[in-house]
Amino acid sequence: MEFLTIINRFFHILSAIIGVGGLFVLWRLVFPALELLEQDQQETVVVGFSKIWRIVLWHAFALLLVTGAIGAIIGWKSSVTWQMLFGIKMLLAVVVTGLGVYLTLPGLSAGDQLERRKLYPIAVLVGFGVVAAGAVLRFQS
Ligand code: HEM
Repeated sequence: MEFLTIINRFFHILSAIIGVGGLFVLWRLVFPALELLEQDQQETVVVGFSKIWRIVLWHAFALLLVTGAIGAIIGWKSSVTWQMLFGIKMLLAVVVTGLGVYLTLPGLSAGDQLERRKLYPIAVLVGFGVVAAGAVLRFQS
């Protein structure tokens, strides 16, 4: 059982790194670099990465949900503090997942995606909030 708990936690943390880390890399590295290019070149680059980025992000969120639910079942605590923190974490997780999906919806034009890049910092900060809540949860009894 301990082994399964560790594997589950490993995939939860790994998918958090990939999902929230990916949002961070786009916000702080990719979009600023795109500003050095002309509009049509920017759109070509966005078309180039958007499909694979959607697949990566959506799979990371799906894995977070599955491993998070398993972790919650295994580690459910009766303390009110733990449950309140867990509730806050769920709210933030819903917000960052919703934003992530909104930013990478299939059918969005490259121009729309460039327009929506303003929401990346919000998604990243909320993502950091979920990670922080997860880190604190671990030490709540
Ligand atoms: C954007 C979504 C999410 C991110 C970035 C995220 C991130 C994290 C991180 C970094 C931890 C700390 C892991 C550790 O120290 O062991 C954690 C813990 C936890 N997460 Fe998530 N999580 C997300 C979504 C979810 C969801 C949807 C659930 C439940 C359905 C969930 C349930 C939990 C639980 C129960 C813990 C505590 C694990 C423990 O006690 O060790 N998480 N999360």
